[in-house]
Amino acid sequence: MMETIAGLKRTKYCGLFREEDVGSQATVYGWVQKVRNLGGLIFVDLRDRTGIVQCVFDESVNRELADKAFTVRGEYVLAVRGVVRDREVINDRIPTGKIEILAEELRILSTAKTPPFEIVEDSNVNEELRLKYRYLDLRRPDLNRNILLRSRTYKVVRDYFAEQGFIEIETPVLMKSTPEGARDYLVPSRVHPGKFYALPQSPQIYKQLLMLSGFDRYIQIARCFRDEDLRADRQPDFTQIDLEMSFVERDDVIAVNEGLLRRVWKELLGVEITTPFPRMTYAEAMNRYGSDKPDRRFGLELIDLSEELKGCGFKVFAGALAEGGSVRAINVKGGFDKLSRKEIDSLGEYVKTYRAKGLAWVRMGGETTSSFAKFLSEEELTAVLKKTGAEKGDVLLVVADAANRVVFDSLGALRCEVARRLDLIDKSRFEFLWVTEFPLLEFDEEEGRYVAMHHPFTAPMDEDLPLLDSDPSAVRAKAYDIVLNGYEMGGGSIRIYNTELQNRMFELIGLSKEEASRRFGFLLEAFEYGVPPHGGLAFGLDRMVMLLAGEDNIRNVIAFPKVQNASELMSGAPDAVDEKQLQELSIKIFDYKGE
Ligand code: AMO
Ligand code: AMP
Repeated sequence: MMETIAGLKRTKYCGLFREEDVGSQATVYGWVQKVRNLGGLIFVDLRDRTGIVQCVFDESVNRELADKAFTVRGEYVLAVRGVVRDREVINDRIPTGKIEILAEELRILSTAKTPPFEIVEDSNVNEELRLKYRYLDLRRPDLNRNILLRSRTYKVVRDYFAEQGFIEIETPVLMKSTPEGARDYLVPSRVHPGKFYALPQSPQIYKQLLMLSGFDRYIQIARCFRDEDLRADRQPDFTQIDLEMSFVERDDVIAVNEGLLRRVWKELLGVEITTPFPRMTYAEAMNRYGSDKPDRRFGLELIDLSEELKGCGFKVFAGALAEGGSVRAINVKGGFDKLSRKEIDSLGEYVKTYRAKGLAWVRMGGETTSSFAKFLSEEELTAVLKKTGAEKGDVLLVVADAANRVVFDSLGALRCEVARRLDLIDKSRFEFLWVTEFPLLEFDEEEGRYVAMHHPFTAPMDEDLPLLDSDPSAVRAKAYDIVLNGYEMGGGSIRIYNTELQNRMFELIGLSKEEASRRFGFLLEAFEYGVPPHGGLAFGLDRMVMLLAGEDNIRNVIAFPKVQNASELMSGAPDAVDEKQLQELSIKIFDYKGE
């Protein structure tokens, strides 16, 4: 028979007891971490979200109570009442390690099966199992801490934006499809057979309309949904800190958000970060790091060797250059001792996952060995060594390709991989960076048309307006990303606020007038009623908390995350539904290949 908590009020959470409490009465609730019987003394470690406290049951004081305590097992839920006293054997590893509670009453509130894994910090249990029993996984102190950190993040964010005069407004979750680059999640309408809502990829259009309505400064902690391939930093449903401001230019948006990050880092980590953050154009970031979200906690910058190797005798290089591509390298300083031939071969396999066709190298040991030096003239090799600053002890890693994109992607990833393997990353550092002047458009080979690089509401840079007709691919946008340690933590832009330019943008991305008016007619019409110049930004809240927590997967900061194939292992979503539900929605499943 289960006991109740009637008449027992908690005096304190388990993890909060300290020496000052010695002598006081205590009532605690929690889960059994561990039971030990040390000849006449039963020790029960009781755990709640704050930590662990040791309860002791003394046979010589109360035999019956000690016998009862001896029946409890791991993860039972207990109420214990007693008196706090000094511990005989101090445990320095836990904050409550100087005291214990000498029990006078014990209630077993709930029994428990043996959990499928131990509830301890740094569990190396298979993640699939942990996700299936996520509610148990969340009892582990590390995950628990992350969820509490996330909760505190919401508060700091809300406080900060409220102080800055932002208004919190909720926008619909059932809405009309708007493009943010990924596929939409659709929700069928029962009342409008054959019609669908889309779940928001972001509140983009609504927040712009709120500016038009005059709210001036908007903030929302918003759920967003994107049907895209998952990665360690991507979930199909995730959370943004979404904001929009009227009568602002880029630097105003940047300043407000630097203020937020300063505040968040200070309050949650006690870390003073210096603002303003460095800024870098997209073009510079690509050239120096091969990435628009460079990790700047280490060097290994890209070096362009195209000039030096133009017309050289190595056909891999000469061929790539002849086709308008490039040859670039990274110089791994002192890499000779750490990068064996075998290790370089494995890096060669690594860059192939980024579509590079190979990885050429120079190892500067006692004598210089190289996969390509024999094809170069003396002058060409000297020029390469000079440009890269390669000296004895260094290793050069080189990629050539007719497509610059491939060179950037592969070397951009390679520099991070080398830094990881050689342990060059100082994990305590926070390297913030604004990346600016993104291209407005990007050519989508698959679709054979331009797509907006950020989204189609982003304004072109004023000085590039003339290029809209002559050379659209060269137009830069008033878009900016906030990058931290190699992650895109947030992104935003100054928006188009005039119908003509917005129409031109739709045209450029291949939307016919009819299509644009069908999908965005309401926005275009709204633009005819007085629009303030406006702009904004959205942070990925999950990514922000992941970085604050020092985690490398956003699953570890989300209570109930999804896995790679977008399913949720605990509840088993997505799942089939009743035939009746489908009928009501006028939906018929065809070619259904599920179980
Ligand atoms: P963007 O598409 O760049 O911009 O998204 C903003 C930020 O949201 C986070 N993010 C994600 N986090 C987890 N899982 C995902 N699948 C995912 N996708 C995006 C990233 C990203 O930087 N409406 C615009 C913002 C604006 O222009 O104001 C937008 O959504 O951290
Ligand atoms: P191969 O001529 O294919 O035997 O390649 C000779 C060397 O050049 C090997 O070390 C390859 O890994 C390297 N290599 C091949 N293609 C490329 C490329 N596109 N960029 C850099 N190195 C390459």
